[in-house]
Amino acid sequence: MTKKLVTSALPYVNGLPHLGHMVGCLLPADIYARYLRMKGEDVLFICGTDEHGTPAEVGALKEKMDVAAYCKKYHDIHARLYADFGISLDYCGRTSSDANKEIVYRIFRALDANGFIEERTTKQVYSPDDGRYLPDSYVIGTCPHCGYEKAKGDQCENCTKVLDPADLIGPRSAISGSANIEIRDTKHLFISLQKMEKELDTWIETKRGVWPDIVYTTAKKWLKEGLQARGITRDLKWGFPVPKPGYEDKVFYVWFDAPIGYIGITKQWADERPDTRKWEDWWLNPQQVVHTEFMAKDNIPYHTITFPATLRGTREGWTEVGFLKGMNYLNFAGGKFSKSAQRGVFCDDAIAEFPVDYWRYWLIANAPESNDTDFTFEQFAGQVNKDLNDVLGNFVNRVLKMTQGNFGDAVPEAGALTDDEKTLHRTLDALRADYDKYWAGLELRKMMAAMRELWAAGNAYIAKTEPWKAVKTDKARAGTILNTALNLVNLHAVLAAPIMPETARKMRAIFGLPAPAAFIDGPAEKALALIAAGTPIAPCEPLFQKIPDERVAELNIKYKAG
Ligand code: 2FM
Ligand code: ZN
Repeated sequence: MTKKLVTSALPYVNGLPHLGHMVGCLLPADIYARYLRMKGEDVLFICGTDEHGTPAEVGALKEKMDVAAYCKKYHDIHARLYADFGISLDYCGRTSSDANKEIVYRIFRALDANGFIEERTTKQVYSPDDGRYLPDSYVIGTCPHCGYEKAKGDQCENCTKVLDPADLIGPRSAISGSANIEIRDTKHLFISLQKMEKELDTWIETKRGVWPDIVYTTAKKWLKEGLQARGITRDLKWGFPVPKPGYEDKVFYVWFDAPIGYIGITKQWADERPDTRKWEDWWLNPQQVVHTEFMAKDNIPYHTITFPATLRGTREGWTEVGFLKGMNYLNFAGGKFSKSAQRGVFCDDAIAEFPVDYWRYWLIANAPESNDTDFTFEQFAGQVNKDLNDVLGNFVNRVLKMTQGNFGDAVPEAGALTDDEKTLHRTLDALRADYDKYWAGLELRKMMAAMRELWAAGNAYIAKTEPWKAVKTDKARAGTILNTALNLVNLHAVLAAPIMPETARKMRAIFGLPAPAAFIDGPAEKALALIAAGTPIAPCEPLFQKIPDERVAELNIKYKAG
């Protein structure tokens, strides 16, 4: 059996994670890792913070902190929020770690030795008052096309035209505001992607119809435009120094060391477990490992072209991405999430407002798989109220109440099964096949729709068999129905566990069972005969609470969503 490596894109350390990060990479990766573990697979699930680059430097400057201390502070905040969101990482690492540095150097040296590194002279803005080179986006000025006064040197936010810092009228440093800037020649190292264009194209072709459309077409678009050499060094202080004579003052570009960070983070994890774990078992073991990556669409080119080229150019046989789940964006009430504008629900807000499973459910049920999706509190509350409270929650509640009211605190005996149970079995078997099929293709919305239909099948069964009437006329028959329904509560708990682990734990506690650790396989007939008659039933508070309209109105005001 192959090992399963699951990675989530590594969020930048300088921004706090919001619902968009959760649904774009961390949460789908988490539910998949949980799903694989429940299937008995050997799983390693990692993520971490992406810590190099100018935004981290500028963030530290604003907080008057040393950059390394700033990164550590925010790394710890990220790690805590991921854990609070139920993200079951085996390791939450850092791209600035010594482990990553070691791997970055190894890969760079191999690329250089194989002739995939070239030197070029480029023009770069230098700010004598800041004592540093400025990345294009840190030069601001007036847009020559639309007159917008705060256009950035790489692109005008107002008219979206792509710019060069030299195009700006009245250019100045975004860091100090100083207009005293110069354009200097500076040498940089580039990775020769163009030399690998053919082999990358051949490889990407094998993914046609296998990877989601958005992933395959994004990669092909880059290939069609023709690959260019890309800079992998920068004139910054914060980063890994470039180990090459003449480059002592430069560091690697954040997008060079960030994807390598997956490997570096695996090494961090293994270094803490030297007796049992080796990072090479995951990363230099392509035949034995299937790597599944989760990321938002803007990251796709880096993980279909640049990073695979980086690994291939070493000719060392690194593990390559096997399946790449690319996601569109989650917008917030029609716009972008923005901490500075205080727009959007950030993870700390989310956790404070509602139980994490409400969010986990909503985000996966509405995952932006084929289009960008909008978050609104109306829709969130509507789906929590209907799907979670009215369908799943009420089913569990009613079945427990009827059992306890008529049979006491134990699962009643099941007598002979009738056509009603057999029909239920057939429905469940068909839906279970869908559930498994959609997991296999990582079609998240469809998988969730199948799960909702499974919940609805339970309600339809109760509505059809009317155990509240049967208790008066044929108590043994009522016992059979409730035995079946209680077993269905257990099955619902197991199937929902990757998405709503806390809810699943509560549902299983009804029967004195631990949180689900494995799936129930086999036909529904067997799956609904696992909780034996006589099993004690523990009381269970309602699993969900409705979100009233007044609360939605308050949230709209609080989060500027209305
Ligand atoms: O877009 C981002 O948030 C980047 N920090 C993702 C880096 S993922 C890494 F693996 F390349
Ligand atoms: Zn403009």
